[in-house]
Order: sequence, then C-alpha cells, then structure tokens
Amino acid sequence: MEPVNAAIVYYSATGTVHALAQAAAEGAEKAGAQVRLRRIAESAPQQAIDANPAWGRHLRDSAGIAEAGLDDLAWADVVLFGTPTRFGNVAAQLKTFIDGTGPLWAQGGLAGKVYSAFTASNTAHGGQESTLLALGNVFYHWGGIIVPPGYTDPVQFRSGNPYGTSHVAGDGPPGDIALQAARHQALRAVETAASLKAGAGRRGTCAPDAS
Ligand SMILES: Cc1cc2nc3c(=O)[nH]c(=O)nc-3n(C[C@H](O)[C@H](O)[C@H](O)COP(=O)(O)O)c2cc1C
Repeated sequence: MEPVNAAIVYYSATGTVHALAQAAAEGAEKAGAQVRLRRIAESAPQQAIDANPAWGRHLRDSAGIAEAGLDDLAWADVVLFGTPTRFGNVAAQLKTFIDGTGPLWAQGGLAGKVYSAFTASNTAHGGQESTLLALGNVFYHWGGIIVPPGYTDPVQFRSGNPYGTSHVAGDGPPGDIALQAARHQALRAVETAASLKAGAGRRGTCAPDAS
C-alpha cells in the first residue's frame, strides 16, 4: 500500500505552536507517513511584529519552512492543523488560509480526509478547547473524519486535553509531555488514515457488482 500523506499545517507567531507542529511531524513520520510540515504565511502588519521581538525572531527562524498551499491539502490523506488561541478562537492567519479553500472544497477535495488539531494559549483557561472545537466546525463542513487524541495513550492523562494537544505558553516552551502528546496525536491520526486508505484500496480492487 502507498504510504499515508500527512500535512502538518500550522501558524505560529512566537514559536510555541511551531514546536508542537514539529513534534506532530515526528509522530507522523514514526507512523510511516510521508510528511509535509507547512507554515501559514504571516500577514500581520510589520508594526505589530516589530512590537514583539519574539515574533520577529520566530518569523526569521522559520523562513526556511515552506508555506502552506491548497496543493498540500489536496495531496494529504490526513491534515493536522495547529494554531495559537486568539481570543478563544483560531488565529486569523490560519482562518484566512482556511477561507481560501473554497475552490478545493467545491470539488470535494477536502472530504473524506482525517483531520485533527492542536493549539497553545497563554493561560490554562484561555480558550484551548473553544479554539479546537472551532476548527472542528470547519472539519464538519469539509466532510472530514475528525480524529482527536482522546485518552488513547498514557500521555493523555498527563497532558490532559482529549480535544487535541494544547500547551500553556505562559508556562514556557512546550516540554516533554506536550511534545509527546503531539507525537501521539499525529501517530493516531496517521494510523486511522492508513486504515481508511487500506479499506479504500480493498474496495477499489473488488470485482464490479454484476447486478
Ligand atoms: C491577539 C491575541 C489574542 C490572544 N488571545 C488569547 C486568549 O484568548 N487566551 C489565551 O490564553 N491566550 C491568548 N493569546 C496568547 C496566545 O495564545 C499565545 O501567545 C500563543 O499561544 C503562543 O503561541 P505561538 O508562540 O505559537 O504564537 C492571545 C495572543 C494574541 C496576540
């Protein structure tokens, strides 16, 4: 069987979600997927970026990572989206990308894929779940197969978010538990996509119905 194609599509201003995305890419690779790590293009005003040295620094450091495009979504069997929590919601940069998927969506090019999401916020009760659920709304519209981590691995009882990996950025950069949770989430999503792909392959080789 062909390997699963996994796209890790994320936006990160100051590097937290980027670290989770890299861990997710590792988990997807461990599960045997071909992986594209893709960052959402920055569209904030330069003035806003300049006001936060960590923002400008991360923008420079991540310049070598390819920007996400619709072709990455079309290519993927499974997509993991990462976003910082912004006012309890998805960052505008990622939402703008999502709002540009209309043509692909209209062709059915987003349906039937596996989707999962991860986030970071500054505080523990700052809206991680609402952000992940908001991304879930998009996946419903796309006809996606939502694969959350749930409590399917011991690390989930330590990281504590069954909706998707999340990290409190106010506590510092993601540590071992959050990174392990991101790896597990991606591995589980890829394994689910692999089962679906294998099933589709079997259906594809069935003899045509004679009736
Ligand atoms: C405009 C804006 C809105 C934010 N809203 C929230 C929020 O609702 N809750 C919260 O805990 N943190 C909030 N934050 C903090 C970000 O979630 C945090 O900086 C981010 O998760 C760090 O991820 P990054 O390093 O990948 O950019 C906000 C930050 C900005 C700039």
